[in-house]
Amino acid sequence: MEKVISLCKRRGFVFPGSEIYGGLANSWDYGPMGHLLKQNIKKAWWKFFVQERSDMVPFDSAIIMNPKVWEASGHLQNFSDLLVECKKCHRRFREDHLLEAISAQPGYDKEKVRSIADVNCPDCGGSLTEPKSFNLMFKTFLGTNEDTSTTAYLRPETAGGMFVNFKNVQGVTRRRLPFGIAQIGKCFRNEITPGNFIFRTREFEIGEFEYFINPSGWEEVFEMWLGEIKRWWKDVMQVNMDNLVWHEIPDGERAHYSKRTMDIEYKYPFGVKELHGIAYRTDFDLSRHEKVSGQDLHYTDPDSGEKFLPHVIEPTFGIDRMLLVILLEAYHEEEAPTAVEGETEARVVMKFPKHLAPVQVAVLPLSKKEELAKIAKPLADELRKMFSVEYDETQSIGKRYRRQDEIGTPYCVTVDFDSLEDKKVTVRDRDSMKQNRVAINELAGYLRDQFAS
Ligand code: GAP
Repeated sequence: MEKVISLCKRRGFVFPGSEIYGGLANSWDYGPMGHLLKQNIKKAWWKFFVQERSDMVPFDSAIIMNPKVWEASGHLQNFSDLLVECKKCHRRFREDHLLEAISAQPGYDKEKVRSIADVNCPDCGGSLTEPKSFNLMFKTFLGTNEDTSTTAYLRPETAGGMFVNFKNVQGVTRRRLPFGIAQIGKCFRNEITPGNFIFRTREFEIGEFEYFINPSGWEEVFEMWLGEIKRWWKDVMQVNMDNLVWHEIPDGERAHYSKRTMDIEYKYPFGVKELHGIAYRTDFDLSRHEKVSGQDLHYTDPDSGEKFLPHVIEPTFGIDRMLLVILLEAYHEEEAPTAVEGETEARVVMKFPKHLAPVQVAVLPLSKKEELAKIAKPLADELRKMFSVEYDETQSIGKRYRRQDEIGTPYCVTVDFDSLEDKKVTVRDRDSMKQNRVAINELAGYLRDQFAS
């Protein structure tokens, strides 16, 4: 994990937030490479779950909504964690996180730690307060008066915006059930114990969709989405499926309205923890919004005339957690041959799936000489029309290859002095490090084929 965090800083994937002011704990900024990687993950998610399907419609709702939305969804009353505070050093902890950390310690004795009352502060040993409920929504005020009538909240999830617009979207798109409404957007939660790099932060992005169904046959729809989620991880994100854990939430542990929930977990370096989830939420959301708004949110089946409240299956994905998983999966250290016959050196290489790589092609003239730049610069400009391209002419070619390996560039194109004569360039493959000589006028097609394969 530390090696990945250090690479992220060194190569411009993720920087500590507000760094020149000493940082802001657990806030992170995405650098040029991180931005591109995140964009590519979001694009792939959108293509797979929305664009390529005939049963999904896109959406983009407001971050600040009428507070009644959060009253209806239950967030105002229940979106809380239990926190305890050390009476001596005043550090605050999430009760469940503290108990989980203690139970993972060597020598843990179940009989001695039956509840949080048996636990002391892990930092200073002081005694802890009784657990109290802490609402995770960020509060703000609309306009210039700061009182209860102007209180509003930053959304803690994107789902609410899609539920309250069900009628609008269904009306204008004239969709028949089943269909889904999807969006990607920023969410805010005032987490008590953020941490583990970008795993748990107070500001993060979610990609999620509400799939509206007739409740009869919900089991098959749930299975269909599980199959799609597996395809997403295996074929699109190309992760090692052994690193995923499919955690069926048992009866009694699910939200009271859910008939089936599956957490998809990942074997992170800091333990097996949630990556994302899928839940069958019954008609809980629409029935609550109907009750609190007083609006009729029922749907009438055009064939049978049956009028009912649609039920919902909700797959939800944390974009930042997906990005963390892609970084962890991509990181490799290996021995690579040097220019000297028979010698090797250690290289770090990010083996991103090619379609996710922040930079797809690097154009590297062998030297800064004008005669090479005359070929290399227009070539890079031409390739930029199709690919994400970097042009780099500084330092030795070996160092430039190492840098491109560390940002995971699948193809490096080298322009050398022979190129002046034979009108060819060398294309180096990131993973095999094999080099191919390719005619300049065939290069775009060659690279397109490589990305397609
Ligand atoms: N609408 C359902 C919902 O919001 P959730 O499990 O609370 O479900 C969805 O959140 C996903 O958002 C999680 O599975 C996780 O990937 C991501 N997520 C939740 N809290 C997060 C945080 N504090 N930092 C980063 N990602 C988070």
